[in-house]
Amino acid sequence: MTLSVKPINLFEYEKLAAKHLSQMAWDYYTSGAWDEITLRDNRAAFEQFKLRPRMLVDVSQRDLSTTILGNFIQMPILIAPTAFQCLAHPEGEIATAKAAAKLGTVMVLSTLATKSLEEVAAVGELGTNKSPQWFQLYVHRDRGLTKALVERAYAAGFTALCLTVDAPVLGRREKDTRNQFALPANMELANLATLTDLEIPRLSGESGLFSYFLEQLNPALTWADLEWLQSLSPLPLVVKGILRGDDAVRAVEHGAKAVIVSNHGGRQLDGAIASIDALREVVIAVGDKAEVLLDGGIRRGTDILKALALGAAAVLVGRPVLWGLAVEGEAGVQHVIELLRDELDLAMALSGCATLQDIDLSLAIRLPVVDKKLP
Ligand code: FNR
Ligand code: LAC
Repeated sequence: MTLSVKPINLFEYEKLAAKHLSQMAWDYYTSGAWDEITLRDNRAAFEQFKLRPRMLVDVSQRDLSTTILGNFIQMPILIAPTAFQCLAHPEGEIATAKAAAKLGTVMVLSTLATKSLEEVAAVGELGTNKSPQWFQLYVHRDRGLTKALVERAYAAGFTALCLTVDAPVLGRREKDTRNQFALPANMELANLATLTDLEIPRLSGESGLFSYFLEQLNPALTWADLEWLQSLSPLPLVVKGILRGDDAVRAVEHGAKAVIVSNHGGRQLDGAIASIDALREVVIAVGDKAEVLLDGGIRRGTDILKALALGAAAVLVGRPVLWGLAVEGEAGVQHVIELLRDELDLAMALSGCATLQDIDLSLAIRLPVVDKKLP
């Protein structure tokens, strides 16, 4: 599809995406849990932070590249794992992976993908440098199945295992309950497709995904299981869904090489703290023992600048990628991330930062100022 008027920011992509999605898919993608307080807070909290730009710095040459878990990437913007991408576009996760490979950044593939991890890994080989891909893991009650997933991800060439810890059960998204959310008949959980009893069920009065979590995923998982998970492959462990300093320390003590400060895009515990508000505590607790990333509500380059100023090594983007995918497949995903990258580049120039190393804590403050040393 050729777009007559190309969106110029992520909010325009969101509006346009609404026209390309079924009501059920739109509701599933946009929803937060219960009253969506956390969903709104993720955005509102960014607005509370203000920038303190530096002037008369040479910003003629700017560089947004960095390394995460030792992998070089072109920008500190990763693609968050989101389930069921074929609801947005027939190419689904394949299109997203192609865009990530072209952009030179990491895509995190969900366990609940509608394309198999092997197909997606094949896309990562694009170009001269292999684009790193991480596999997001949901731990099933069936240990053999979980083990097989990790082994397949490693064999396929994924470079990290991203364990999501904020979903022992699924949060309640009321629109999904109302819609009795289920996957259309022509889509499958491609990573689990060989197991015919693992379809998303459609049960009356409940979201099929909610039922799936209750029946298949293991709510008894604890920190002690991290050792077992790490024994399954040499992949470095990333723990996603941390909102407290003490949990971040626990993750690191149990071997995590990175933690992602995240409330799952406001889809799990409603009322949970906004991710940007939780970031500082985690960064201080972790120190230099692991990399700290953040997701939730990133819609502008200035949001990324604020997150990096507060100590994040990089951010991940969830829903906007789905908007790009719905509007224009691979090209849409690529454009969404390019818009964010270019906004970050501009925001860096305007605040006296030529490289990511120049972005320090002094750049962002939360008003009202309580520190008397600052004006
Ligand atoms: C998600 N998220 C998610 N996380 C995860 O670990 N595994 C998954 O399968 C999914 N699936 C998923 C589906 C949809 C539709 C959404 C919106 C989100 C959470 C995701 O990785 C990320 O934490 C948030 O989306 C970040 O917030 P923003 O960028 O959407 O505001
Ligand atoms: C969601 C799950 C699948 O947020 O992570 O819908």
